[in-house]
Amino acid sequence: MSKRPKDNTVGPWAEEKLDSLRRGLDYWTTRLKKKTYWEQVFVDAFAGPGMSAVRSRHADDKPAHASGMDDIFASLLPAEEADPVEQEVRYLKGSPRIALELPNPFHRYIFIEKDPERLAKLEGLKEEFHGRRSIEIVAGDANQALLSLLNSKFSKRTHRAYIFLDPFGIQVPWSTIEALAATEAIEVMINFPLGMAIRRMMPNSGDVPKGWSISLDTFFGTPDWRKQTYEEVTDLGGTRTVKFADSEERLLQWYRERLGFAFGHVSQPQLITNTRGGRLYYLIWAGPHPAGLTGANYILTMKSRGGPKKPAPSR
Ligand SMILES: C[S@@+](CC[C@H](N)C(=O)[O-])C[C@H]1O[C@@H](n2cnc3c(N)ncnc32)[C@H](O)[C@@H]1O
Repeated sequence: MSKRPKDNTVGPWAEEKLDSLRRGLDYWTTRLKKKTYWEQVFVDAFAGPGMSAVRSRHADDKPAHASGMDDIFASLLPAEEADPVEQEVRYLKGSPRIALELPNPFHRYIFIEKDPERLAKLEGLKEEFHGRRSIEIVAGDANQALLSLLNSKFSKRTHRAYIFLDPFGIQVPWSTIEALAATEAIEVMINFPLGMAIRRMMPNSGDVPKGWSISLDTFFGTPDWRKQTYEEVTDLGGTRTVKFADSEERLLQWYRERLGFAFGHVSQPQLITNTRGGRLYYLIWAGPHPAGLTGANYILTMKSRGGPKKPAPSR
């Protein structure tokens, strides 16, 4: 297994993800600005360090183990792109800082992270915003922390929350999604890691190793991902398992439908690619309110509608 480096760099595509998040949060906080009877909470469940160096174009497609991916997923990736990092050109504000700098801030911020070094950086961010923002940093697993939040005094009568679920892989089980949706008070922006993790766990042969199969069952909340991915084909050579040519579209569509069923509303997906056009992951919004859907669809389809060409500058 590869070791996970601690360089805190991100690929250039992170800019696009963070731009959509910024727009989504801005829309949410503006929409709810006058509804101060609810405590408005932002939860960054996979917060990261809060600031990262952007890798150069040549370094951006290198294996995920060099970009901080968790060991299990890093080990699945091909090692064909071993370019050294050429230079770190600039820094990018991470999701916690983006949320803290919104013109209409949330009442409360919860940043969850399990990596000690990134936690230390988040503590620095908390110190920087001391007296201006109410920030809690939770060390540990995102799913446990989210369930604890729901079991605290969080309710539809008193709270509204926007939760960013931005893991490297399939670390958000369907049970967590269902628990968030059941509150009817939470909107989520999800990183659906189709290219980063899921594709690599589903070989063409259909021989998915037992451990991965169990992880995929947990992620999707059912073993039915198999039906979206594989079919049995019988010909002169006998019966064999074949992967659908459009298995990724099927999985994406199916996952979105299930999100829509759980939350009430689900957005169009925004595809995030690497600099060579390889599909990495999709951003998907889900929530209980149609007004949230209108904004999310506008933001997440912006690029496919032709603009903006470049992400908006940080506020
Ligand atoms: C993709 S990065 C987050 C980047 C951040 N959202 C941003 O855009 O600036 C994922 C982060 O989740 C953390 N992480 C991975 N598994 C986790 C878990 N089970 N619970 C909490 N944090 C986790 C990693 O240490 C990493 O910092």
